[in-house]
Amino acid sequence: MKENTYVEVLQNIESLIEGEMDLVAVMSTISCELYHAFEYFNWVGFYRRVDEKTLKVGPYQGTHGCLTIDIEKGVCGKCAREGEIQIENDVSSIPHHIACSIDTKSEMVIPIKDNENNVRAVLDIDSTEINSFDEVDQKYLKKICEYLSERCT
Ligand code: SME
Repeated sequence: MKENTYVEVLQNIESLIEGEMDLVAVMSTISCELYHAFEYFNWVGFYRRVDEKTLKVGPYQGTHGCLTIDIEKGVCGKCAREGEIQIENDVSSIPHHIACSIDTKSEMVIPIKDNENNVRAVLDIDSTEINSFDEVDQKYLKKICEYLSERCT
């Protein structure tokens, strides 16, 4: 059951990042733990907001991702603009999806906000299966993103 996997992943991440305040180190650890936990995840990683209109790729695992995303574009751009979780369970049905791999069938993007509610980065997860994401993923991935929010200065 995926809930059990998430509980285990959360425990692993918490113990690995304890006392670590460096964002790249924490993002790398989160990407690694999540990517290896679910065999249908084909891309797990971060896009960081580097200016008003630009997201740049951060630590990730999987096949290559685009380096730069215009904030007006993609599921990641929508998440960064609106500050809301995006669940797209069939990416072929949405015109704004940026396809980095033809294997990606569904996608979820979670915003990472600082203590002034600014979106500083997003966590992007791609899956090789349609309908991969639901409220269970939402619950645990939100929690994982809070580890980063707590470390945003
Ligand atoms: N699919 C994303 C682009 C990033 S890659 O999936 C790694 C999007 O539509 O924003």
